[in-house]
Amino acid sequence: MKVLFVCLGNICRSPSAEGVARARAIQQGVIDRFTFDSAGTGDWHVGKSPDSRAQAAALARGYELTYLRARQVSTGDFYEFDLILAMDKDNLADLQRIAPDDGRADLRMMLDYAPQFDSREVPDPYYGGEDGFDQVLDMLEEAVDGLLSTAR
Ligand code: 4NP
Repeated sequence: MKVLFVCLGNICRSPSAEGVARARAIQQGVIDRFTFDSAGTGDWHVGKSPDSRAQAAALARGYELTYLRARQVSTGDFYEFDLILAMDKDNLADLQRIAPDDGRADLRMMLDYAPQFDSREVPDPYYGGEDGFDQVLDMLEEAVDGLLSTAR
């Protein structure tokens, strides 16, 4: 299954999701069932590494994000990926607006895979404090495990 994680800037939430997914899929022995990538609906940070706060919070849990570079969602993504997972409702609305009619990707919310949380949205940590990044990782780890469990 080819999975694309999408947020606004592709420097905080979605690259974190990509790093968490890749690491946990390796740990759980299901990496051969998945391809992971991430992208942003916006283009402000194209070519940039993940936000240093996201990198630090991820590394503290053993997730390496330094090699990732931001890119914007493209029309081709809707044909290439099986599943495109939005971090918040704005991201999902933007994806639905630009999706081609004959695209094959399923568009869903990331937290559809973590029904234990009351919220459906992974909050944007960009303008908040450091603890926002840990909260994002807490949510992403649960949702990634939910996603990976669909492969078993
Ligand atoms: P992300 O966070 O969507 O999780 O990557 C953001 C990054 C940058 C901006 C907003 C959110 N920005 O406005 O530049």
